Amino acid sequence: MDWGKQNRMARILRPENGRGVWLAVDHGYFLGPTRKLEEPRKTIEPLLPYCEALFVTRGVLRTSVDPNTSTPIVLRVSGGSSVVGKDLADEGVTTSIREAIRLNATAVGLSIFVGSEYESQTLKNLANLVNEAEEFGLPVLAVTAVGKELEKRDARFLSLSCRIAAELGATVVKTYHCEGFEKVVAGCPVPIVIAGGPKMETELQVFEITYNAVQNGASGVDMGRNIWQNDSPLGMIKGIRAIVHENATTKQALEIYNSVKSGKLLPTGSETLWDLIQKQLKGFGFQLRQTKYGPISVFYDDKRILRIWLRKRFVSVKTDVPVKTGWTAIQDEKEMTKILDPVLKRLAKS
Ligand code: 5RP
Repeated sequence: MDWGKQNRMARILRPENGRGVWLAVDHGYFLGPTRKLEEPRKTIEPLLPYCEALFVTRGVLRTSVDPNTSTPIVLRVSGGSSVVGKDLADEGVTTSIREAIRLNATAVGLSIFVGSEYESQTLKNLANLVNEAEEFGLPVLAVTAVGKELEKRDARFLSLSCRIAAELGATVVKTYHCEGFEKVVAGCPVPIVIAGGPKMETELQVFEITYNAVQNGASGVDMGRNIWQNDSPLGMIKGIRAIVHENATTKQALEIYNSVKSGKLLPTGSETLWDLIQKQLKGFGFQLRQTKYGPISVFYDDKRILRIWLRKRFVSVKTDVPVKTGWTAIQDEKEMTKILDPVLKRLAKS
């Protein structure tokens, strides 16, 4: 793979595990102002720090995404049909590669509609897009769309669609999870990310498909409605991140979800203090670090600001805990709970 393309891929699928959590917010291109995406900026902003990439059209990118973001953009470049029109499959390429480069997109994405009246048209869209994108080292995401025919999402159909997408040159394929998903992965020589589809009834269902997909070889998710149509989008994305990046179980993801949603610390059970805090922070993308000060080091300064040393940065919170200036190793669970509570509340809001 060319250096540029490889480098772009490394930005959207983490090189250390080949996985990524992408946030799909492209729905307006055929659904209009769909529920909870009426004002895209409001939906996107709080979730942006928690995804490896944002899947978005140029219109929403320009109007609703902070250009100072460091989150890579996978630009949706197909469209031309709507949910009330004759056929959703009748798509063309709507955005040029020149425009994608102008927008500093890391990759471009379009839908293919295998088995539809517009199969050939959309497959040729993909092939032509790959021809153009390859010239500039831009990866191409192919979405194996089913339009309104959700029942099409079985292993036979998705294997066929994913394989065709890869054969035509897609760098990554976005598809659905299904029974026998491992067969879909086995037949597709490029990485697969999964969509969530329409909002499911429970959070657990979403965590289950994510877990099963990843366990069966998916490289992550490119998910939309099941994150931002939830009552706690932050809880969802953090639970999903734990599954994708930390190999968390569905139960752990649900615990993260519930703790983010309620802003409370998890019940302790029989876990060690270290395990408990690791788990709490996992969903926030942080990890505690062993230091010479003890298993968990916290720092109070004279302004009663608590700092916990985390891998990526200090988290500071104002606390009412009686302070002792300097580094302290916290060993006691009760004390840590008291300290972590405001930290988690703050992180849940951030
Ligand atoms: C339809 C799409 C959607 O626009 C979207 O990206 C899907 O995300 P989700 O199903 O998770 O809401 O690609 O084919």
